[in-house]
Formats: sequence, C-alpha cells, structure tokens
Amino acid sequence: MSNEQIILEAKHLTKRYFGLVAVNDLNFQVKKGRIHALIGPNGAGKTTTVNMITGDDPQTEGEVLFCGQPISKMPIYSRAQLGIGRTFQNIKLFSTMTVMENLMIGAQSKTNQNILSWLVNFKKANDEEKALKEKAEEILNFIGMYKYKDEAVNNLAYGRQKMTELGRTLMTDPKLILLDEPAAGLNPSERKEFIDIIQKVYEKDVDMFLIEHNMDVVMNLSHDITVLNFGCKIAEGSPKEIQQNEEVITAYLGEGYRQKMAKEAGTNA
Ligand SMILES: Nc1ncnc2c1ncn2[C@@H]1O[C@H](COP(=O)(O)OP(=O)(O)OP(=O)(O)O)[C@@H](O)[C@H]1O
Ligand SMILES: [Mg+2]
Repeated sequence: MSNEQIILEAKHLTKRYFGLVAVNDLNFQVKKGRIHALIGPNGAGKTTTVNMITGDDPQTEGEVLFCGQPISKMPIYSRAQLGIGRTFQNIKLFSTMTVMENLMIGAQSKTNQNILSWLVNFKKANDEEKALKEKAEEILNFIGMYKYKDEAVNNLAYGRQKMTELGRTLMTDPKLILLDEPAAGLNPSERKEFIDIIQKVYEKDVDMFLIEHNMDVVMNLSHDITVLNFGCKIAEGSPKEIQQNEEVITAYLGEGYRQKMAKEAGTNA
C-alpha cells in the first residue's frame, strides 16, 4: 500500500511509566477514508496511545507518522496545524464560558496569535475575530448546537458538552480526529445523535480514530479495529472479524457478547 493511503501510522510505539509498560511496541496503520477504532479493556493503553499521537504525552520509544511525516518530536500545536484534532475522555472545556467562546478559543490553539499581536493591530484582530465567529456559528449549525451558542458550558447536559468539544476540535480544520470515548456517559438518544454527527463529519472527509467501549457504536461506525490488551495489540481486522476473534472475546468482549451476537443473527435470519 502506498504512503498516500495511510493517514496515521504507529511504529513500535511504547510508553513506560516507571515499572509499568502502558503501551508495548504497538504498530498499526490508519487508512485514509476509514473510521478506525481502538478498543480494549480499562487500562489497556488506549488513551496513552492517543496522547502519544497528539503530543500530550511523549513516547518512550517508537514513532508516529502523520501522512507519512514523522511527528513524534513536534509540539502539540504543530501537530494540530498539520490536521490532528482530538476530544478528551474527561471533557476539557472552560466550563464557565459560553459554547461560542470555547469554540473561538479552540481555534486559537492552532494559530500563532498572542496578546501582543492583538494589541498591536486592532483592525486585523477585529477582522480575525469576526471570521472566527462566523466559522464557529457555521460549525455550531452543522453539529446542531447553534441554539446553545450563548449558554455557559456548565449549564449544558453532558451530551451537549461532549458535542461542544467536538465543535471546538472542528475549529482547527482537522484531517483526522481522535475521539477518546465520545459516547461514554451519554444516554441512548444522545448516543444516537453523536453517532449521526460523527458520520456527518466523516462524510466531510475528516478521518476518525475512535476509542470506545460501547460496542454498538464501535461496530456501527468503524471500518477497521485494533484491539489492545495490557498495552499489546492482540488483534486487528474488520468489525466482523473482531467479533469472532477468540482472543478478543476472552480478553474483552466476553461470552455474553458472543451469545448476544448469535441471538441477533438468529433473529435477523
Ligand atoms: N500518567 C501516568 N502515570 C502512571 N501510569 C499511568 C499514567 N497514565 C496512564 N497510566 C497507566 O497506564 C495504563 C494505561 O492507561 P490508559 O489510560 O492509557 O488506559 P485506557 O485503555 O485508556 O483505559 P480506559 O478504558 O479505562 O480509559 C494504566 O495501567 C494506567 O494506570
Ligand atoms: Mg482511556
């Protein structure tokens, strides 16, 4: 496969925290135009992997390539400039600020703007602020959040806060978004809404790297799945292959999941 078709690649990616090997010699490729899921039990090393991709946490060994380019030594904002966006397992927003303000601040994380340059050039700053505001409004419309734009984040339901985080990431025009448990804590209707929005964003040519424990979400959304257990890759393949993989069933999905799948197959037959 040529390099242009691979948006993200991990090569021998390893993270050690003192005695603990959180991620162990991990290799995988995320193909362009695909939704790729990373699944596995609690503590398997999924968030640590995402943190090494974004630069939030440095790797101990190995490297990450984005569109063929080594990025492992770059700071977080340079990786964002290249087109890597993320959401966090534990929401990281300015909770007393409005949805709109959070989106506008999100866009700043990718620019070189600093307070001094704003003071030096009011006109330019004003024009930029206006453009950012328009862009934020467009994104909020797209993700169905426009009517909440002036609400403080801490007044919003949890699902809306998660959606705000997605909106903030979209402000940086990502080519790839790393979603760390987007559906955790959502009720079924919020979950469905989130899946629809992720699908809509994906249809705008944004690739997705998805960490998620909810198997309905994973199996419905993803094209390719990598499975981690104790920091090591134990399987990769299509949703169907992963559902039937004995090692994945033993380590993560459980016998109950196999029975549920068999029952659903029987019902649908
Ligand atoms: N900053 C840290 N210092 C020490 N150990 C850490 C640190 N961050 C993570 N770990 C450990 O690394 C391992 C992998 O953690 P990680 O958060 O990546 O797991 P995860 O797969 O995201 O789990 P979950 O599904 O619960 O979110 C765990 O054993 C965790 O306790
Ligand atoms: Mg995690």
